[in-house]
Amino acid sequence: MRVLLAGGAGYIGAHTAVALIEAGHDVLVVDDLSNSSAQAIARVEQITGADVPLLIADVRDEEAVAAFVRTHAPVDAVINFAGLKAVGESVAEPVRYYDVNLGAAIVLLKVMKTEGIRTIVFSSSATVYGDPEHLPLSEESRTGIDLANPYGKTKRIIEEILRDAATADAQLQAVSLRYFNPVGAHESGLIGEDPTGTPNNLMPYVARVAVGSLDRVGIFGDDYDTPDGTGQRDYIHVVDLAAGHVAALEHAGPGYDVFNLGTGVPVSVLELIAAFERAAGRELPRQILPRRAGDVAASYCDPSKAQRDLGWTAARTIDDAARDSWNWQSRNPNGYAGD
Ligand code: NAD
Ligand code: WQD
Repeated sequence: MRVLLAGGAGYIGAHTAVALIEAGHDVLVVDDLSNSSAQAIARVEQITGADVPLLIADVRDEEAVAAFVRTHAPVDAVINFAGLKAVGESVAEPVRYYDVNLGAAIVLLKVMKTEGIRTIVFSSSATVYGDPEHLPLSEESRTGIDLANPYGKTKRIIEEILRDAATADAQLQAVSLRYFNPVGAHESGLIGEDPTGTPNNLMPYVARVAVGSLDRVGIFGDDYDTPDGTGQRDYIHVVDLAAGHVAALEHAGPGYDVFNLGTGVPVSVLELIAAFERAAGRELPRQILPRRAGDVAASYCDPSKAQRDLGWTAARTIDDAARDSWNWQSRNPNGYAGD
């Protein structure tokens, strides 16, 4: 199949492009490069030997996206990675977050209608569960739009837009994938996570400490009700996550469905740092800081629905992710800007 990746130059999109091409599919990418580099697509081409057409445009430019799709017709499916994703920024700039994230999803659905594309896979997030009532989180767990931050609300609202669109159009196949905490990099070290400025997320922060561009890891609280007192998360290797998109596309049927993509294994902040120390072969300076506002003690999923319905399961461990993240960071200390 031929798949349009909206936001495909980003961290998860680039890894998914590689997985799709390696599974025998063709990909094309629309990305405004607001949080990524065209170099990521060049590296996807280097890894796979495939040509990846790239349209540099805002995905909300409906005419440009439709024309791109027509040029590469027939396009069979869309994966929507495009959007803004910084939780704290979304609290400060809610209107921009609703504008970009909802606008991108709506324009893609409109283009799909005019161009006769029936399948869409959407990057949702574990953030839609808010503060978990029960662990592990299943797809049936409580979600709401009463979430603490506008970013999470955009994910929840887009899920409902997809559900309504699939109810109205019997031919539409729509899937939301609720990612837990994506980490790691492609084993080649050619593509990886390249956040702008100081990373918000733990693993890229730890990677910058390991490479020496940041002084020490700040641990946001060691007094949670968890085995070692630090927060627990379900860290999913980005190459496993990418494979989950291939499985979702290949198994999509009419209607709307939602899947958790995670490992089901809780890993604490201290355990992640220890895995990175093993990978990098050095001790990493750290400091206990107060809890970060809005953080939950623990979040991890029950991944059995994806295993049952998609035949997908996460194969890689936190040590695999730390090794691959360190490989990417040490080969590319300045990310794609080093090229
Ligand atoms: P990313 O920022 O690396 O990728 C998003 C891409 O979308 C970037 O390349 C960016 O340039 C592009 N983009 C943004 N707005 C655009 C627009 N209007 N038009 C065209 N392109 C646009 O982020 P990522 O980590 O790869 O995340 C991909 C998706 O997965 C996002 O929707 C994110 O919300 C979601 N997600 C990410 C995580 C995570 O921790 N990384 C977790 C859960 C869900
Ligand atoms: C993980 C753990 C922190 C940084 C966020 C978004 C979520 C999703 C993934 C998009 C927590 C601790 C972190 C640091 C630390 N994104 N930590 N020091 O908060 O689970 O999820 O990214 O959808 O929506 O909220 O991920 O990597 O920021 O934090 O101690 O410098 O690491 O307290 O326990 P989080 P994270």
